[in-house]
Amino acid sequence: MTIIAIDGPSGVGKSSVSREVARRLGYAYLDTGAMYRAMAWLALERGVSDPHDVVELVRGAYLEISTDPDVSSVEIDGHDVTEAIREERVSTSVVLVSGNQEARAELIEQQQDLIGAYAEPGIVAEGRDITTVVAPQAEVRVLMTAREEVRLARRAKELHGEADEAALAATRAQVIDRDKRDSETTSFLTAADGVHTLDTSDIDFATAVAAVLELAERAG
Ligand code: C5P
Repeated sequence: MTIIAIDGPSGVGKSSVSREVARRLGYAYLDTGAMYRAMAWLALERGVSDPHDVVELVRGAYLEISTDPDVSSVEIDGHDVTEAIREERVSTSVVLVSGNQEARAELIEQQQDLIGAYAEPGIVAEGRDITTVVAPQAEVRVLMTAREEVRLARRAKELHGEADEAALAATRAQVIDRDKRDSETTSFLTAADGVHTLDTSDIDFATAVAAVLELAERAG
């Protein structure tokens, strides 16, 4: 049984690295951010913003998320929201859910159930609080970091296809402001005890993947 927990801020590359590590090891993959995003999408869809209503919505929603690293699929209450949850309006509203402690508690329980169900042969779970709250017992715990300008450029390229001035400005709110708000609820800016820090500022994708695989090998 192996759990690989990966946390980090936005634009650090944790989703692509986590997915690839899962593929290479034949493990399941869990994108916990997608779960928060799906709930935020539903809250927007239903026009719900009152904190108590958000909790009720999260408790009552039926979420289905693919744990196959080769298949991206997120469905909520029968809506396929795989693409829609990446929209900017969802990124800016996700704090409605992630900043709500009761809603978090519900999602954390769902995440722990999924991790438990796929821990054989293994699962790579990524987010903001996996190494500390969701799965602190994970055999491998990694905090991915990268300098702010590097994260900005990566996300700008992903969202706009390039990292020119306009793209960087448009991306700033998504990356920097969201991280600032997120760090008020979850602690992912410095590594907790026993968590390895992987600074990806000056290394490429393959090297980051190899570093996590090496940690997994050492742990196993
Ligand atoms: O990882 P991603 O950027 O898709 O996450 C979207 C949002 O979900 C984050 O900005 C954060 O508010 C929330 N989140 C969280 N805890 C996690 C994963 C994501 O609060 N474990």
